[in-house]
Amino acid sequence: MTTLQQDPAEAAKRRAAEWAASQVEEGMAVGLGSGTTSALVIEEVGRRVATGLRITAIATSEQSHRQAISLGIPMTDFARQPHLDLTIDGADEVQQGTLHLIKGHGGALLREKIVAMASSKLLIAVDPRKLVIALGSTFTVPVETVPFGWETTATRLRDLGFAPELRVNDNGQPYITDGQHYILHCSLPKSGLTPEQAAEAFNQTVGVVEHGLFLGMADKVVIGRVDGVEILEPMSATLPG
Ligand code: A5P
Repeated sequence: MTTLQQDPAEAAKRRAAEWAASQVEEGMAVGLGSGTTSALVIEEVGRRVATGLRITAIATSEQSHRQAISLGIPMTDFARQPHLDLTIDGADEVQQGTLHLIKGHGGALLREKIVAMASSKLLIAVDPRKLVIALGSTFTVPVETVPFGWETTATRLRDLGFAPELRVNDNGQPYITDGQHYILHCSLPKSGLTPEQAAEAFNQTVGVVEHGLFLGMADKVVIGRVDGVEILEPMSATLPG
């Protein structure tokens, strides 16, 4: 048994990822998410493709795309495949009941939202640490921003109460997304706004490309537990039959 499998949180994540990957069906066009949980999903989907499952996929980041290619998953693009059947992704926070999400701490929120919006279904795979009562209680909201004039965009977000902080790499330089943008980490509780009000404020702010609030988008959340998985749907919780 590896060290990874001995860690209960990692084991839970893997259980959620394996269940999520099992939802991919023959012939589907699939969105592949980003982050460590999605990497496990891609690994499992790759295993199924190697044993005969026929699908096409679009990834939400360059890193996930490279992983999928390395596993032999046939990749496509929106020119050839404008609509996806199912997207499987991770999340930083999942609000209990609503299944509203914070996503993007892996830096891929823009492509993640584009891919999710093009999908009939969005399935989120998480371990139990991601469940929260109120969005913003453990994570900030990543807000993808055009580099030009980012300081003035940050000032406007600061005036709205979000206390934005520029995401930087270990070398102190701004983190650059796959779309060549910056990320401002914004605090929801400090703004005093509801997630819906915050989303609207981000949408109205010039210089903001997209934000990591995914409200009303998840159709299903699978949570890895010690002894299996729990499936949540918006405003209801059921155990798999
Ligand atoms: C990537 O940009 C994110 O939205 C990830 O889906 C999210 O950060 C979850 O990542 P982990 O699965 O690594 O926790």
